[in-house]
Amino acid sequence: MPPPFPPTFLWGAATAAYQVEGSPLADGAGASIWHRFCHTPGRVHNGDTGDVACDHYNRFREDVALMRELGLGAYRFSIAWGRVLPEGTGKINERGLDFYRRLVDSLREAGIAPVATLYHWDLPAALDDRGGWVNRDAADWFAEYAAVCYRALDDRVELWATLNEPWVVTDGGYLAGVLAPGHRSAFEAARAGHNLLRAHAAAVEAYRAEGKGRIGVVVNVEPKHPASERPEDLAATARADAYMNRHYLDPLFLGCYPEELAGIYGEAWSEVFDREAGALNVPIDWLGLNYYSRNVVRHQADAWPTAAARVRQPRSIHTETDWEVYPDGLEETLRWIANRYGSIPLYVTENGAAFYDPPSPIEGRVDDPLRIAYLREHLRAVGRAISAGVDVRGYFAWSLLDNLEWAHGYSKRFGIVHVDFATQQRTIKASGRWYAEAISSGAPRTPASRSARPA
Ligand code: BGC
Repeated sequence: MPPPFPPTFLWGAATAAYQVEGSPLADGAGASIWHRFCHTPGRVHNGDTGDVACDHYNRFREDVALMRELGLGAYRFSIAWGRVLPEGTGKINERGLDFYRRLVDSLREAGIAPVATLYHWDLPAALDDRGGWVNRDAADWFAEYAAVCYRALDDRVELWATLNEPWVVTDGGYLAGVLAPGHRSAFEAARAGHNLLRAHAAAVEAYRAEGKGRIGVVVNVEPKHPASERPEDLAATARADAYMNRHYLDPLFLGCYPEELAGIYGEAWSEVFDREAGALNVPIDWLGLNYYSRNVVRHQADAWPTAAARVRQPRSIHTETDWEVYPDGLEETLRWIANRYGSIPLYVTENGAAFYDPPSPIEGRVDDPLRIAYLREHLRAVGRAISAGVDVRGYFAWSLLDNLEWAHGYSKRFGIVHVDFATQQRTIKASGRWYAEAISSGAPRTPASRSARPA
């Protein structure tokens, strides 16, 4: 990758606990909502589960060696809450924490910066039994869990993230019901969204008391473009943007919710949320952006809850998840965040694509030219944003490994490393090789270290 990537730019790849680890109940771990969801017939494609996944729990050393071979400067992973606190609160399970201690140690030994996400969707089932994110106490539960992680790992973690994509948790888990815990209620969704942000704020406050490094949060943003200039399409576009994008970023940075939300949620929206929004704006050190696609939007009265529907773009390339490939949207989003919310260090914490790859390599190779093109064009978009003055400090390909793509099971492959799920054999795809090249030409292999911090 040519300039403008600065020498300190963090080149990484990302995964999430339930998608790669396997062994979800090992060493005293408590079950998560994803474990339950996968084991409920009809919820996940093909009845797939995370019982084995990529067996990263046992093979992490091999995976760290692969990261090293790729020249990664950072690895973004998530911590499974139920491994640390099997009941969600209370008793700490040291054996679960030990897994993450071993992981961060081997990353550090390989010169790879650990980037830890505290919540990537795998709420302990015991907390779901108490109402999960709909319960206001969830903010305290999360802060308690976060503090345990800080105490165990803060000396070795480069960057902390509280939540991964609160919109997806809220919309997929509590409104559309396609992700765990699989509920369909606007009332629950509105409350869960607010409680997730309260939990984030509580975990950041706990970090200021316990931690010495940097903490942020990861959101997914999709630029919303109107399908036409008709007033109803413009209004639908504003609603779609408020619902998915500003819903989380406005309270995080401006301390208020977008005014459209009260209209979108109707009686499910509570004035309490607006009253409490000011407390959600706690200072953070960095923001993670997950970017995959854009959305062209038109008015559609029966599209719940926004009355806004997606217009598929017939001339565009689409991925296996039917997402439009739209690299310009990444530059647009990075610039939009910097303009609307002011200067904050930004990291692209996920970007990547599912394209068809065979279940096993062919003659030892996996050629994935579409994924190479996707990564190349999106990295160019990041480069343009940096040249325009946006403070982007790192990029993480999604994903390091083919993995459990949530309700799609193992049917969608996002990895830059192929996993043969029958044998667990890993093969670096052509896109992984391409990315390694990009890294070595564009940035040094050693990450910016926290050595300046007190030991
Ligand atoms: C999530 C990942 C997921 C990816 C592709 C993001 O929304 O953070 O867990 O696998 O998108 O769908």
